[in-house]
Amino acid sequence: MDIIHSVADLRARLQREPNNVFVPTMGNLHEGHIQLIDVAKPRAACTVVSIFVNRLQFGPREDFDRYPRTFEADCKRLREAGVDVVFVPEEKEIYPEPQTFVVEPSDLQHILEGAHRPGHFRGVATVVLKLFNLVMPHSAIFGKKDYQQYIVLRDMVRQLALPIEIIPAETVRGPDGLALSSRNLYLSTEERREAPRLYRTLRHAHDEIMTGARDFQRIELHSMSELANHGWKPDYVAVRRQADLQAPAPGNRDIVVLAAARLGRTRLIDNVEVFLK
Ligand code: PAF
Repeated sequence: MDIIHSVADLRARLQREPNNVFVPTMGNLHEGHIQLIDVAKPRAACTVVSIFVNRLQFGPREDFDRYPRTFEADCKRLREAGVDVVFVPEEKEIYPEPQTFVVEPSDLQHILEGAHRPGHFRGVATVVLKLFNLVMPHSAIFGKKDYQQYIVLRDMVRQLALPIEIIPAETVRGPDGLALSSRNLYLSTEERREAPRLYRTLRHAHDEIMTGARDFQRIELHSMSELANHGWKPDYVAVRRQADLQAPAPGNRDIVVLAAARLGRTRLIDNVEVFLK
């Protein structure tokens, strides 16, 4: 496994590697990331992973400074997973000058996560386009846990005609249902015990819709009070259609229920897809 720090070395290394698949990450790798790599590996001769905590996608009061950085452990995991190239740039390698040109996503950037994290998807889309230009993969893998991120990036690639296939990977969960996330590390023991309620609440909404409930607003409000009654501060629980994250119209069959809520100081997100027959 080659560990590369500079853009020049990355370009030189990948010049002989036209067949590569890319998994961008912010490090602090867990089983969820290994799942992305498992999806990636059979698709190309060379699997490239980046580790870069991208300041541009964090708000001024978010956790950029305390975001866990665990480089040695990450490299061990990546080696075991059979990754070929790891790109770990310093901030000045990616942003040698202030990033004044940015990718401005559609109105999708202002709803759900975007409404609570202004500028977040602009920061994500800008760094991902930049990383795509450095790695030049034919495919890239994104986890469905960050569902809106996946949709924004899928649309970016389509609308800007990038020759890259965006492949979604399923969310990996602990035995109690909690979606794996780097931010789970922030939870106290007590909060960790409470955290699976987010997924249980989404599953409950899923089951209600599957068995015929169509008053989505009632489901959203009920789910939010279930969380609030157990000490959470929900930002949203939203029933949307998978295609564009807008409110479902009668007849839409592919639905997703998305949620974001704070447990103590930690903000968790999760979602469950609903496929109506
Ligand atoms: O999902 C993430 O870890 C980040 O948003 C990404 C895609 C690596 C961009 O910084």
